Amino acid sequence: MAFLFLLVCVLPILVQSADNGLARTPPMGWLDWERFRCNTDCVNDPDNCISENLIKTMADLMASEGYKDAGYEYVCIDDCWPSHERGPDGRLVPDPERFPSGMKALADYVHSKGLKLGIYEDFGTETCAKYPGSEFYLQTDAQTFADWGIDLLKFDTCNSYSSDFQYGFPAMAFYLNQTGRPILFSCEWPHGESESNFTAIRQACNMWRTGLDIEDSWDSVVGVIDFYAKDAQNFSSFSGPGGWADPDEVIVGDFGLSYEEERAHFGMWAMFASPLLMSVDLRNIRNSSKALLQNRNILAINQDPLGHQATLKMELANGYVYVFTRTLVDNKIAVAVLNKAFNGMPTSVTMTGKDLGLTDESGYTITDGFTGDQIGSYGPTSEIIQNVNPSGIVIFVATPK
Ligand SMILES: *[C@@H]1O[C@H](CO)[C@@H](O)[C@H](O)[C@H]1NC(C)=O
Ligand SMILES: *[C@@H]1O[C@H](CO)[C@@H](O)[C@H](O)[C@H]1NC(C)=O
Ligand SMILES: *[C@@H]1O[C@H](CO)[C@@H](O)[C@H](O)[C@H]1NC(C)=O
Ligand SMILES: *[C@@H]1O[C@H](CO)[C@@H](O)[C@H](O)[C@H]1NC(C)=O
Repeated sequence: MAFLFLLVCVLPILVQSADNGLARTPPMGWLDWERFRCNTDCVNDPDNCISENLIKTMADLMASEGYKDAGYEYVCIDDCWPSHERGPDGRLVPDPERFPSGMKALADYVHSKGLKLGIYEDFGTETCAKYPGSEFYLQTDAQTFADWGIDLLKFDTCNSYSSDFQYGFPAMAFYLNQTGRPILFSCEWPHGESESNFTAIRQACNMWRTGLDIEDSWDSVVGVIDFYAKDAQNFSSFSGPGGWADPDEVIVGDFGLSYEEERAHFGMWAMFASPLLMSVDLRNIRNSSKALLQNRNILAINQDPLGHQATLKMELANGYVYVFTRTLVDNKIAVAVLNKAFNGMPTSVTMTGKDLGLTDESGYTITDGFTGDQIGSYGPTSEIIQNVNPSGIVIFVATPK
């Protein structure tokens, strides 16, 4: 009852709540969840438990190993950071063993590296891992995060009712706004809804999750890409500067993907204008994965200021090959040819310029999306033939002449 009463009071002034000036391009950073989960065992696994040490170490590496220069900015803590009990004042308290310096000090440290700090909470009564949730504490928690100097809040949906999301997430956006501190609002809403009001989601959230948690496997990546290919409710059309559909973290550099799969995964997240939150151990990442995460050509597609999410243009080779396109600034067109087949040899794909929306009669210069190398010159009637590796991708960018 208390919750509903509160909502009725705040609803009329919510309309512009995501209007915080943030996320003009897809947010980039690092998030601990996929790789480090809810590891709280700092006694037996001190280097990998969710703690201020882990976050500081990753912030150090983001700054020293080129990630920050490539655009990665937010260092984000997921679930399992708080104590199991709120303090006497009702405020959340970070676990004293794992965050002995407190969140304010951690935020100061991260800021000193030129980076930003993200934190996690849950709209329900408890987080997914059963730490205190924000229900009935929305205003207190928003203010606490602002007081600590937090820059991003990921807000989960465990232990709550999906019918409440449409009220609760805008309410939290409102309270974040009221703190006066710009805090990027990363929502799990609409997760769990059968049909969603993306207009309302976009008004509240700077990014919103499109599906289940990503796992460390190619199947999980393909599941996301299939979902984006279907584009139910045309959700692609709601993504853009200020608010982004979020397919969940980038798992490049982890255990589950081959090099071809990593390129395909990262290339598609770039095509989708997805937030790029790496979840990887930056202390021992493969050189090839690191280079991919810092590939300036692919990042330029992801960060294109128009912010268009790629949509499916063609399905070829019995549905094994997807061709996605998106427009970039200056009438450029990015094309991704993704091969989901696993039959051992590259698939040859033939398209015409017109198929891909290359309709300008003056023609286009084509460059490789990964290397930036020129690969040719095409017009609307040109035949474009690409060999695409199994579980692989070809991306090219067409620039009008
Ligand atoms: C709060 O919302 C107002 C109105 O939409 C906006 O102008 C302002 O920048 C927002 N402030 C923050 C801190 O998000
Ligand atoms: C979706 O949300 C917007 C903004 O809150 C609202 O104006 C509109 O009526 C909602 N649409 C539906 C179908 O509920
Ligand atoms: C999505 O957009 C397409 C093309 O604009 C339109 O034909 C289709 O009906 C839309 N689908 C939905 C579910 O809105
Ligand atoms: C990875 O890069 C580092 C630094 O550039 C280099 O010293 C090392 O030999 C490389 N490792 C491999 C396996 O190529």
